Amino acid sequence: MSFFEITGRRRLSGSLAVHGAKNSVLPILAACILAPGECVIHNCPHLSDVSATLDILRGLGCAVHRDGNTVTVDASVVQRSAVPEQLMREMRSSVIFLGATLARMGEAQLSYPGGCELGPRPINLHLDALRKLGAQIREEDGVLYCCAPDGLHGCEVHLPFPSVGATENTMLAACGGSGTTTIVGAAREPEIEDLQMFLNALGAQVQGAGSNVITVQGAARLRPAEHTVMGDRIVAATYLSAAGAAGGEVELTGVCPEHLSTVLDVLEEAGCRLWYAKDMIHLCSDGRLQGVRAIRTAPYPGFPTDAQSVVMAALACGRGRTVFEENIFQSRYRHVSELARMGADIRLTGRTAVVQGADLHGADVCSTDLRGGAALVVAALAAEGVSRVGELHHIDRGYDHLELALSKLGAEIYRKNG
Ligand code: UD1
Repeated sequence: MSFFEITGRRRLSGSLAVHGAKNSVLPILAACILAPGECVIHNCPHLSDVSATLDILRGLGCAVHRDGNTVTVDASVVQRSAVPEQLMREMRSSVIFLGATLARMGEAQLSYPGGCELGPRPINLHLDALRKLGAQIREEDGVLYCCAPDGLHGCEVHLPFPSVGATENTMLAACGGSGTTTIVGAAREPEIEDLQMFLNALGAQVQGAGSNVITVQGAARLRPAEHTVMGDRIVAATYLSAAGAAGGEVELTGVCPEHLSTVLDVLEEAGCRLWYAKDMIHLCSDGRLQGVRAIRTAPYPGFPTDAQSVVMAALACGRGRTVFEENIFQSRYRHVSELARMGADIRLTGRTAVVQGADLHGADVCSTDLRGGAALVVAALAAEGVSRVGELHHIDRGYDHLELALSKLGAEIYRKNG
């Protein structure tokens, strides 16, 4: 079992390029199967979730090749329409293959995704939207069988909640349908704009991403394309939280400050000094952040649920009080009990967490989920003494060699086996 050994209280300084966004690269790789031929995707981070996605593409019959951060997907031949159960279990987001496979093959099969570390993860909105587009879907022994015997056809899809995955699945399926699909109440996350950009590079006609109404003119003839994945705003939020809590001066490149504005506002209010340019964020901190006004997670452009844990960790080792309200997922405070082992003072009541800044000390802790694990690393970097953070498979899902990036900034962090 590997773990990170981290000696805290080292100032972080230097410059880092933020790697490609996990939540962008997954739907973009799934979208590759829409276009017969070879797509070239740059800035693909080395993440276990990306490896699982590439395995799914191979399983469907695509030829996949990785050279550094560039992945080529040749979807000239797609022989299968079933996502193997093992891969589905490994990565819940593989549900994104439902829309893409339906669009390309007219049918799709995958095991019903269960809940995950964050609580129940229903896909009712995905299924309702696909049914509206003409898909017939039945569940048998935990397997979803989807087909579109009369083809998919454009329609108006109303999402009662701006689900990121349901918006993307609908966009992908609609590309393979006839006529115009309008998604009303769409999620507005920047990763959806990145997907739109890639789909349009393939020759699709998608408009409106970034707003809550997206239209897709279906049945365009799609051809392969080349695309560079946007920078990961949550990874950027993690580095910034770490530098804010441990103190130091860091410059991040390859990430758009606008995509992170709610997080940057919080860090500024907590006492960090920030400068931004087009694709650059510069942060300077004396460490020991101040408590800030209540942080309520919400769909974009609100405060991202994915940044809640890392910002909480940074404020837990500061001074003063901050109230968090988690409004997206039910079980997104599992890192709290681990932070408490390091001396954090956090009271939980339902969806609210009240954080009182405290002096943290090193401890042996376990990652509970992807962003929860990253939060433990942030806390360990600011805590006095040595911490060991285990269950790294969670962190490796979404951070490309986190320890190497942080070492580059001067952190004392090593991956060890034991
Ligand atoms: C995506 C991100 C994830 C992020 C989340 C919210 C990817 C690969 N993952 O996940 O990192 O935390 O957005 O920003 O992009 N819901 C339903 N029914 C559905 C779908 C969702 O009730 O059919 C609920 C979910 O249970 C959750 C909320 O809607 O409470 C948000 O989920 P959603 O936006 O769909 O998140 P994901 O796309 O799964």
